[in-house]
Amino acid sequence: MTYFLGIDLGTSAVKCILVDREGQVKAGHSVEYPLLQPHPGWAEQNPEDWWQGTAACIKALLNKANVLASEIEGVGLSGQMHGSVFLDQDLQVIRPALLWCDQRTAEQCEWIENTIGIERLGELTGNRALTGFTAPKIIWLRQHEPEAYARIAHIMLPKDYVRLMITGEFGMDVADASGTLLLDVAARRWSAEVLDKLSINPEWLPPLFESNDVVGQVLQVAAEATGLAAGTPVVAGGGDQACGAVGVGVVKPGIASVAMGTSGVVFVHDDTYQEDPERRLHSFCHGVPGKWHRMGVMLAAGGSFQWWKNQFGFEEIQQAALEGKDAYEYLTALAEQAPIGSEGLLFAPYLTGERVPYSDAKARGGFIGLNMRHTKAHLTRAVMEGITFGLRDSLELMKESSVEVSELRVNGGGARSPFWRQMIADVFGYPVVTVNSTDGPAYGAAVMAASGVLKQDITSLCEEWIKVVDRCEPIEANRQAYESYYQVYRTLYPTLKDTFHKLSDLAQGKA
Ligand code: XUL
Repeated sequence: MTYFLGIDLGTSAVKCILVDREGQVKAGHSVEYPLLQPHPGWAEQNPEDWWQGTAACIKALLNKANVLASEIEGVGLSGQMHGSVFLDQDLQVIRPALLWCDQRTAEQCEWIENTIGIERLGELTGNRALTGFTAPKIIWLRQHEPEAYARIAHIMLPKDYVRLMITGEFGMDVADASGTLLLDVAARRWSAEVLDKLSINPEWLPPLFESNDVVGQVLQVAAEATGLAAGTPVVAGGGDQACGAVGVGVVKPGIASVAMGTSGVVFVHDDTYQEDPERRLHSFCHGVPGKWHRMGVMLAAGGSFQWWKNQFGFEEIQQAALEGKDAYEYLTALAEQAPIGSEGLLFAPYLTGERVPYSDAKARGGFIGLNMRHTKAHLTRAVMEGITFGLRDSLELMKESSVEVSELRVNGGGARSPFWRQMIADVFGYPVVTVNSTDGPAYGAAVMAASGVLKQDITSLCEEWIKVVDRCEPIEANRQAYESYYQVYRTLYPTLKDTFHKLSDLAQGKA
């Protein structure tokens, strides 16, 4: 038997899986690494930790699965997007990488938009300057750590650093490169104009590839560290959203995915480059060669529910620990006891600011409509409904530019609950399906490796390997009931925006 190794370099851990030629997952393993938060709103990681973690993870996986290095036909990488890895000319890491969730660059984003002009930036990159993206992080380094900046010889994204350690080759796929704000997304090449206007040296950037291109082979030194065989081909792979979408088969028009992780992402495939005229959605290259995608990223989807569980789910956490179950199961069962709309209670899920549809680091969360009848069941349901309404906002933006959707493929933690899947179907008004592959981005990375090595296109591989296993249809009465609440939900942010800003300023000591 032979296998493809899919690696997903996440924010809390790296996950590796082995997938056979029939698309079956043989085994998986993951290894955690630290997240550094040296100041409020900052998020950094040491690239060396990623590499050590990945090498240990691959080694442990091969042992656990009892698979020989010679049985691995190819390797694909997925990873957290947007993070900035700065290397000097000796390939030494200059400082910890600034991550996708780092919020320090609001001023640099404003500077970029003023320097290039919002309209022109949108024409060139398909996007607005957002704090999470890579370009503002480079400008931040120039302004705040000029000595570190002066040493830069190479800039890359997180998984591309790990691939460099494995193969000794520089490279970046166009899907992940789309999140740097330095890519001409429509033309799938670095934007000379953006680089010039931001005075960023183009020689610092790696060559670009499509996700299934073979970028290099495992080096002898990496073979020793990982247990892989020297010479094993490694493909470019992609950012975690493109890989996650490939991993559930969102590789053709008509299917959207809803990924419910800490963040929540609504993702559609585009055969041709499409953009949101107001740039609220991200327009990126897809992991499918020559194709694009749009996505809306909600910052605290599962993150809001996790906050609720950690702060107010003490009994459920205890009960789950006693019975060896998951606290979320008890919380969703509690939520089911309240009716749709939680008897007039809404939850605004902007706990870490928001990205789509409102790009606003000062947006905040809240319960609106509380009355004496409300119990913990109502509040729990309101949290789940608020997250689901927030996700629907992204699909509404896509529908404005006539995206045709016939089904939603849900994945991530939230997708495990049948109650939540039905809620998504009812709130969105589309059938919700789950598929046999549940390893998300790692699975997508394995598909890309198989595609590159077997020379079979990604779309047909997905059709062979990924099958729908569950489908739930919207219930019309529920859809109507949710619709009324959704229309009120949509008024929350515009109504409360000033209040959110004042509270955020007060909390930061700015009167
Ligand atoms: C996508 C995004 C996240 C990160 C972390 O734009 O910011 O998906 O890649 O997972």
